[in-house]
Amino acid sequence: MTQFTKRVFSGIKPSGKIHLGNYLGAIQKFVKLQEDKSFENIYCVVDMHAITVKQDPKILRKRTLELTATYLASGVDPEQSIIFNQSRVAQHAELGWIFNCIARVGWMNRMTQFKDKAGKNSENVSLGLLAYPSLMAADILLYNATHVPVGDDQKQHLELCRDIAQKFNNDYADEIKQHGFGDQFFCLTEPLINFGNKPVRVMSLRDGSKKMSSSAESDMTRINMNDDSEMLAKKLKKAKTDQDALPSEMAGLEGRPEARNLISIFAALDDTDSQSVLNQFGGQQFREFKAALIDLAVAEISPIGDEINRLMKEEAYIDQVLKDGADRARALAEPLVQDVKKIIGFMV
Ligand code: TYM
Repeated sequence: MTQFTKRVFSGIKPSGKIHLGNYLGAIQKFVKLQEDKSFENIYCVVDMHAITVKQDPKILRKRTLELTATYLASGVDPEQSIIFNQSRVAQHAELGWIFNCIARVGWMNRMTQFKDKAGKNSENVSLGLLAYPSLMAADILLYNATHVPVGDDQKQHLELCRDIAQKFNNDYADEIKQHGFGDQFFCLTEPLINFGNKPVRVMSLRDGSKKMSSSAESDMTRINMNDDSEMLAKKLKKAKTDQDALPSEMAGLEGRPEARNLISIFAALDDTDSQSVLNQFGGQQFREFKAALIDLAVAEISPIGDEINRLMKEEAYIDQVLKDGADRARALAEPLVQDVKKIIGFMV
């Protein structure tokens, strides 16, 4: 078996408000992984993914800065991790195209996220939206990233990434050997979805059956990372609950999606598990629990929001972080794409 460097890659689209789902499902994992010195970490602002649906250019630029500020404010450190915006490293597009020629249309058509986003309009969405998972595979395999921390909505895309890697390794097995790369050119990436106590899916504050999302129309459904403490309190006070007291055991959360969601948010923010939260609040009414949740959310999220707002006044600094990161990413990506080109028979 080919040995690959332990490397982490993940990305977030700068296409909407950055919310608690992104933070708990992804960004907190980035910060934790950064502490493990056996990994190289690469965190991307995937602006090329954002334009698969129409973006206002001025807003896209602002959101790119804001997402980078959120990485930095949350503790992703440009000294320890590579932070960059995707479009600055042209090799993402190059490998993305090559993967468009490896992946099958049927694979793309089966993606549930594509089906949800396209809805009845599938003839009219951009071709990029259909090909999106192929670009996502290129993002990851451009660095032969062995681990990808994401929320569980990305699971299917990561399975497809493995399928693309596998098909490339099979289709070009002879050339891969001839060029001295052994038995595998691309690694089969591991998704990091279940990660400590972090929830794999943070749900809407208004409907426990829907995931928290930047595309939900009402802002009351989500906690944005730069909501001020008043707004945090307002949203959590209004968060949907039910009539019953909180249970003492996890089994008591069965069929109570809103209660389960708030408990798991509390646990993630407090860096503990849901059962410990129930040990503390079991038998109490939501009013008491919510008051504690508001205090915790304000203590954990407001400082990040304040730092995002401060950093947003330092645009030149944020841009420099992205530029430096892009230079470091390109230095890794360029030789890999050269190797891919040789394998597939391009003149280089
Ligand atoms: P995106 O931008 O939709 O979401 C970014 C990350 O946040 C996670 N997430 C959530 N986690 C828990 N609960 C939620 N409610 C929630 N909402 C979002 C997502 O799982 C994701 O980890 N296709 C990706 C971006 C991407 C990417 C990549 C990710 C492009 N290339 C390469 C990893 C590796 C996306 O649209 O994520």
